[in-house]
Amino acid sequence: MRVLVSGGAGYIGSHTVVQLVSAGHDVVIVDDFSNAKPSVVGRLEALTGRSIPVHAFDLADVDKTERFFATEQVDAVIHFAGFKAVGESVAKPLDYYQNNLGTTFSLLRAMERHGVYTLVFSSSATVYGADPELPMTEDLPTSATNPYGWTKVMIEQILRDVAASSERWRIAALRYFNPVGAHPSGQIGEDPSGIPNNLMPFVAQVAVGRREKLSVYGDDYDTPDGTGVRDYIHVDDLAAGHVAALDRISTGDTGMSTWNLGTGKGVSVLEVVRAFEKASGRKIPYEIAPRRPGDIAASYADPSRANADLDWHATKTIDDMCADTWRWQSLNPNGYPDEETAD
Ligand code: WQD
Repeated sequence: MRVLVSGGAGYIGSHTVVQLVSAGHDVVIVDDFSNAKPSVVGRLEALTGRSIPVHAFDLADVDKTERFFATEQVDAVIHFAGFKAVGESVAKPLDYYQNNLGTTFSLLRAMERHGVYTLVFSSSATVYGADPELPMTEDLPTSATNPYGWTKVMIEQILRDVAASSERWRIAALRYFNPVGAHPSGQIGEDPSGIPNNLMPFVAQVAVGRREKLSVYGDDYDTPDGTGVRDYIHVDDLAAGHVAALDRISTGDTGMSTWNLGTGKGVSVLEVVRAFEKASGRKIPYEIAPRRPGDIAASYADPSRANADLDWHATKTIDDMCADTWRWQSLNPNGYPDEETAD
């Protein structure tokens, strides 16, 4: 199929592009590059051996989105585009609601006008709210503790109502746990702008010498070693989950389905630090700091519905995740170049 990947120049989007092409799909990227560097496209073309068409515009722009669908034939959409920093969403709620909902409304209306009814949506385990039952299953109630999380809860509800309005729609909401790692080539990876909010990119920047030390946000949680426990999933496993979900909904029942994409295994902050030291051979200095507001003690998935429905399983271990992250970071100490210079 020809697949529009919105936000396809981003971290998870770019890894999904590679897997879509290797699964035999054609891809077209729409990205406004507000949180991605254009040089990733050259890396994707080198990795896939294909030229990847890219349209640089904001999907919230209704006219540009209409023009895209009027000129480009697509069979399905994987929708990653959106703001995703929890802390920033608390400071700028209007930006988050306007952008994340606005892009989705614009995209859905254009899809409907042009008879494109197959959509995979990038959701998040954050929709399970502040004190979820563990392991998290898809039928748990949804809520949020920050505007970013609420945009995911709201968009899932919008998609449920859209799917219920016409049996043409084929929609999957994929709830990610903690995406980490990088393509084993080391050519693409996570490249957060500014100080990384998330654990793995921060640890990688300490290892490569960009940051002095890690602050461990609390060691007094009710967890085996007192530090926060999360379900880290390799971005390539996550990308494979998108291809599997797309294949399933494009041939299976119409309507909307929701799947957790996680390993089902919880790993603590200190376990990540130790695994990264092993993978990189570098010491990761850290200090215990106060808990981060809004953090929960533990979060991990029950991925059995995705395992069964999609015949998909996370395959990579935390050691694989750290080794691939380290290869990306050590080959690209400052992330993607502002522009790719010919080697
Ligand atoms: C993981 C653990 C921290 C940084 C976030 C979003 C979530 C999703 C994934 C989008 C926690 C600890 C972290 C640091 C630390 N994003 N930590 N020092 O918070 O589980 O999830 O990213 O969908 O919506 O909330 O991920 O990587 O920020 O934190 O000790 O410098 O590492 O306390 O226990 P989180 P994280």
